[in-house]
Order: sequence, then C-alpha cells, then structure tokens
Amino acid sequence: MKVGILGSGDVAKALAEGFVKHGHEVTLGTRAPAKLADWVAKHANARVASFADAAKFGELVVLAVKGTAAGDALRATGVANLSGKPVIDATNPIADAPPVNGVLKFFTSHDQSQMEKLQREFADAKFVKAFNSVGAAFMVNPSFQGGKPTMFICGNDDGAKKTVTRILDQFGWETADMGKVEAARAIEPLCMLWCIPGLLRNEWSHAFKLLR
Ligand SMILES: NC(=O)c1ccc[n+]([C@@H]2O[C@H](COP(=O)([O-])OP(=O)(O)OC[C@H]3O[C@@H](n4cnc5c(N)ncnc54)[C@H](OP(=O)(O)O)[C@@H]3O)[C@@H](O)[C@H]2O)c1
Repeated sequence: MKVGILGSGDVAKALAEGFVKHGHEVTLGTRAPAKLADWVAKHANARVASFADAAKFGELVVLAVKGTAAGDALRATGVANLSGKPVIDATNPIADAPPVNGVLKFFTSHDQSQMEKLQREFADAKFVKAFNSVGAAFMVNPSFQGGKPTMFICGNDDGAKKTVTRILDQFGWETADMGKVEAARAIEPLCMLWCIPGLLRNEWSHAFKLLR
C-alpha cells in the first residue's frame, strides 16, 4: 500500500520502517522536512513531505504526532486529503503536565476520548485506534517470550479495521477489535498502564496480551 505517515518522531519512524520492511511505500509528513534528511537518506522507499502531501500520497494514513497537536496537524493536512481513507490513530492524549507516581495525565475524560473528538471533526476519515499502547521499539514484529502480543483496536468502519488488521498481521500482532470509536475511551488509557512500569522502574519492554 501507499502509506502517508503524519509525524517525524519515534513512532512515525518505527512504523515507517515497518511498512517499508513489508513492501509498502511510505511518505512521512512533517512541518520541517529538513530534520528527516539523514533518516530518509538511509531508507529507500521512504520520502518526506508536508502533512498535506504525505496524506495525499497515502491510501492509508497514520497519525503519529504529539497528542496535544493532533487536531492542528489534521487541520494542516486538510480534510480532502483524509476523506474516505483509513487513518490509524496512534496518538495519546497526554497533557503537558508531569506524571503522578508514574501515572500520566490525560487531557480527555472517561466519557470523551481523543479519537472520538477527531472522528467528529474529520467525519469522512475512517479512524482506527492502534499502536497507542506499546512503545515504538516494539511496534514492528516484536519478540516476547509470552508469544504474540495483542493490539487493541477500535473504529467505526469495518473495512478500515480489516485493512489495519492485515497490517497488524504483517507486523506480528494479534488483533482484538473492541468495537466502535467510543472504545477509544478504554484503549487510550492503556498507554498510561503501559508507561507505569517504565516511569516507576525504568522497565519499558512489555506488551499486553488478551487471554481467552
Ligand atoms: N513514543 C512512543 O513510544 C509512543 C508509543 C505509542 C504511542 N505514542 C504516541 O504517538 C504519538 C507520537 O509520539 P512520538 O514519541 O513519535 O512523537 P512526539 O514527540 O509525541 O510528536 C512529534 C510529532 O508531533 C508533531 N507536532 C508537535 N507539535 C505540533 C504542532 N503544534 N502542530 C503540528 N504537529 C506538531 C511534530 O511535527 P513536526 O514533525 O512538524 O515537528 C512531530 O511530527 C504521540 O501522540 C504519542 O503519545 C508514542
């Protein structure tokens, strides 16, 4: 697939490497393309552009920007470049405030997630929450003693979730579909849970698994 990734940080780069590894074409979107010049020189099949051009390029779009900037980044991207496309939302609504005893502070509430807000504003984009509750280093084909980890996803569009599930299969994950966009109220805080061992004890090498 052609994949437009909005972002230039660890998540954008890790996912870009994963997509390229599995034969997809990638364009990263950023406000400052020059900062990715070295990275791009080392990665064939990956290009860098503006947010708008990266999304225009993608049949699949990935949102991987700072949580507080997600709305602004999508506005800069432009509704027309997102319309009708699956958009993987890897963001977390982490507030600009310090954690308390290892627990991150969110700017959302239990009844209103980041992805619901984005889905409402960009109604024609097909958001799927994924990749938000594991560290960037483990997003692509991670190897855990406990076996394949589980990626919890949600979103309103079944076709978009099928596309994301195929990507997750390639990236070495089992997928647990938690339903519509409101399930992001439960999936986004998994990021808090995932970060607690890291923030308290500097342990960052784990992922979640759903046992049945
Ligand atoms: N780091 C992880 O391991 C991890 C794991 C799971 C989920 N996440 C989530 O994934 C997202 C990306 O995380 P990250 O660590 O890769 O990077 P990050 O440092 O959280 O975000 C960097 C990106 O945010 C964009 N950005 C910042 N301020 C902006 C603004 N005012 N307007 C538009 N764009 C802005 C930057 O754009 P420019 O390129 O233009 O500077 C850059 O692409 C976050 O929401 C994070 O919570 C992170």
